Amino acid sequence: MKKNNVLISPSILAADFSKLGQEIIDIDKAGADWIHLDIMDGHFVPNLTIGPDVVSSLRKYTDKLFDVHLMTMPANNWLEPFAKAGADIITIHLEAEKDIKESLKIIKDLGLKAGISIKPSTSENILEKYIELCDLVLVMTVNPGFGGQKFINTQLKKIQNIKKMQKNMGITIDIEVDGGINKETSKLCIAAGANVLVAGNAIFSENVENYSSLINLLRNSN
Ligand code: DX5
Ligand code: ZN
Repeated sequence: MKKNNVLISPSILAADFSKLGQEIIDIDKAGADWIHLDIMDGHFVPNLTIGPDVVSSLRKYTDKLFDVHLMTMPANNWLEPFAKAGADIITIHLEAEKDIKESLKIIKDLGLKAGISIKPSTSENILEKYIELCDLVLVMTVNPGFGGQKFINTQLKKIQNIKKMQKNMGITIDIEVDGGINKETSKLCIAAGANVLVAGNAIFSENVENYSSLINLLRNSN
């Protein structure tokens, strides 16, 4: 049952890749709000995951929103392929493109929601230039590249500052957090102002019959 407006976006990076279609069906039934798809190129991050063909083949298993987290450099050449594959939101990394306004415009022109993500080492102050052009800001609470890492506590202040920034500008956009989210860290992120929580291992390391209770635990944990 939903007790607040917090959305849960399970990251399939921690799912069983030999049965991704079934994992998506199961996570959809369990009450996931969005499906988080981590796209890694072995260059921007030291890991490789999936491309647009895999995303396209997963599209038929759910109507839930596909939340594509693009960890590629460059990013622009992948925007149209992932849009065609069925992405609803594409989030690019601020560190991965020179002209962020142009990248956001391409995403919007493709008819999608546009997000910007920042690594733990990137200051949130730079977002001031772009935040009005975004639908979402994704705060990385681990260094991007791998699931199962420890939450970096110093990022909580960043979430608070982004929340303040939007308030001062009179806008409301989604603030998503990604990395090391579990039943304890989810509380801290919600209290700091996040409204979308990505969780990989906290959900998929459990048996399928527990997916639903874990999603509710993360969502209602403040
Ligand atoms: C890391 C990815 C995350 C990752 C989170 O680069 O962006 O989405 O899957 O995994 P957990 O929740 O296990 O930290
Ligand atoms: Zn991610």
